[in-house]
Amino acid sequence: MKFFADTADIDEIRDLAATGLLDGVTTNPSLVAKAGRDFFDVLKDICAAVEGPVSAEVTATDYDAMVQEGRRLADFADNIAVKVPLTWDGLKACKTLRQAGAMVNVTLCFSATQALFAAKAGATFVSPFVGRLDDISEDGMQLIRDIRLIYDNYPALETEILVASIRHPMHVVEAARIGADVCTVPPAILRKLADHPLTDKGLKAFLADWQGTGQSILDKP
Ligand code: E4P
Repeated sequence: MKFFADTADIDEIRDLAATGLLDGVTTNPSLVAKAGRDFFDVLKDICAAVEGPVSAEVTATDYDAMVQEGRRLADFADNIAVKVPLTWDGLKACKTLRQAGAMVNVTLCFSATQALFAAKAGATFVSPFVGRLDDISEDGMQLIRDIRLIYDNYPALETEILVASIRHPMHVVEAARIGADVCTVPPAILRKLADHPLTDKGLKAFLADWQGTGQSILDKP
């Protein structure tokens, strides 16, 4: 499974990219607003910091303007994935932008039929928002199960399932069990994925015992 960072904070992105474990980045207008910087300055920094896809969202809502904005974004860097909302205009724009060779992430997906249409429109990624469904007492991960099943029924569909709106590590575990292609994760949650108290406890004990031997690995010729 691929891991994307769900943020427009360049310091976080650089730090995570240095691990070699980051496969891409997703941004949205709210995350860009939170970063408090010029959109294209932020994008330039992010696209230079990671090799994988960087999702940048259009803000127009009608087809013509979405395509215009999408082309501008796609031309900005080779690793931009243009993000369009899952509306009829967005689906139409997805098809056009894909035909022009751009990567497209169809976002704000909340149902299996929406995901089916995104794939039919040739989306590179579809972004189902699991946390926002959980927030309204629906089962976000059930949507991922449904989309996986449906896409697997039609092997010609090449759209990757990009699980979004992740709120906690169990969302990631469940997404991996189901076989989702990508999880986009806020940095604070991403960092938790490699933590375990027993790892810390075990390491502490090993190092205390090692110190008692008085030896050093690097001291040996
Ligand atoms: C995905 O691309 C979105 O940026 C993101 O996952 C939305 O998450 P939220 O529901 O926490 O805002």
